[in-house]
Amino acid sequence: MDFLSHHLLAEIAHQVGTPCYVYDRARIAKNYARLANALTPAPDVGHICYSVKANSNLSILRLMRDLGTGFDVVSGGELQRALLAGAAPDSIVFAGVGKRDDELVAALDAGIGWINVESAQELRLLSDLATARGVIQRVALRVNPGVDPHTHRYLATGKRASKFGIEIEEALRLVAQRADCPGLAIEGIHIHIGSMVSDVAPYLDAMRVALEVIAQCRALGATITTLNLGGGFGVAYQPEQAGAPIEAIADAILPPARRAGLRLLFEPGRAIVADAGVLLTRVLYTKTNGGMRYVVVDAAMNDLIRPALYGAGHRVSVVSGASEVSGVSEVSEVSVVGPVCESGDVLAEGVMLPELRRGDLLVIYHAGAYGMSMASNYNTRPRAAEVLVADNQWKVIRRREIMADLWAQEVECLA
Ligand code: LLP
Repeated sequence: MDFLSHHLLAEIAHQVGTPCYVYDRARIAKNYARLANALTPAPDVGHICYSVKANSNLSILRLMRDLGTGFDVVSGGELQRALLAGAAPDSIVFAGVGKRDDELVAALDAGIGWINVESAQELRLLSDLATARGVIQRVALRVNPGVDPHTHRYLATGKRASKFGIEIEEALRLVAQRADCPGLAIEGIHIHIGSMVSDVAPYLDAMRVALEVIAQCRALGATITTLNLGGGFGVAYQPEQAGAPIEAIADAILPPARRAGLRLLFEPGRAIVADAGVLLTRVLYTKTNGGMRYVVVDAAMNDLIRPALYGAGHRVSVVSGASEVSGVSEVSEVSVVGPVCESGDVLAEGVMLPELRRGDLLVIYHAGAYGMSMASNYNTRPRAAEVLVADNQWKVIRRREIMADLWAQEVECLA
């Protein structure tokens, strides 16, 4: 890894404690620049709206704003985070299959750029809410293109029978009847096929479907200006994997979008932050059970749930440990597991690591996306600290939870 040196990671672990997430600002900026250069080379081509769910720390959002991204939010909470970080309201797009009335009202009151509507009932409700406030809200209809993104089944979202979006036929019916929704301006189509997509083909398929739908909307007299193609660009978690071919995807979709007079929005999360973050954890114990070597560490599935939830593989290596001192470098297969009382609490299965001792420091790579943002307090474990490294300096951007944080809401209500 060409950034976050082991020396720096050891210093951070020593001072902040473990488990601890560490993010690298320069890497985030580099990832964003690659996407922006390829996909949105000029403002009239489109805009990248960072997907807040991937990593929603306020300092990360502030950094995104400074880089020039918009924001893709999926809840009232994410909307408030983006606004707190200083996002321009019109750079925010709000998607989600189950937006509550109060979340829609908050979005209308903030004057956000786009609401991606996912059902006929939501469309009608939003129109009524907008009319009552005397505003016209710009919306995109999220449609399911019926495209298979060839990814983990939990990460596929654009298949015909998925819970997301509106069926194409129904979307066209809603466009035809748009006069019934006077509080709305239907100006966009939104498609998100899924996450960890690493081929051009699914994006091209989605594009083809989108262009067809947009042509039909236009034939119905609607002014469709914008196509939001979602996020989902895959990254290489392992050396043998390939990340999404961003430039090839851009080459495939920008020309037809231009020909159709469409501005593009993209909502990448993982591709901007995943490889810019690591999780630091220390070895608590080592043991062998039934021939299996276990390394029990102080991070767990409540800190990083991806391996337990998707069988995701994250690379692990030793930052500082016994092998350095003793010169022993032989590696053998181990399972790195956390303290949580679940057999599924495995952070890395079958990885090759050298001899380890209590207190050794490990680093889990590619933890910048869907790590801390999916963390929980399961087993009443305080959530980890987060640190941002910038210009060889580092700063805590979220303090480690203390015990009192864990029951504060209950103490207020103690019967
Ligand atoms: N836009 C929409 C509508 C989405 O649902 C998502 C992700 C994104 C954009 C951003 O996708 P990305 O570029 O980050 O792939 N927890 C899972 C990923 C779930 C993604 C959910 N939606 C994981 O850890 O792999």
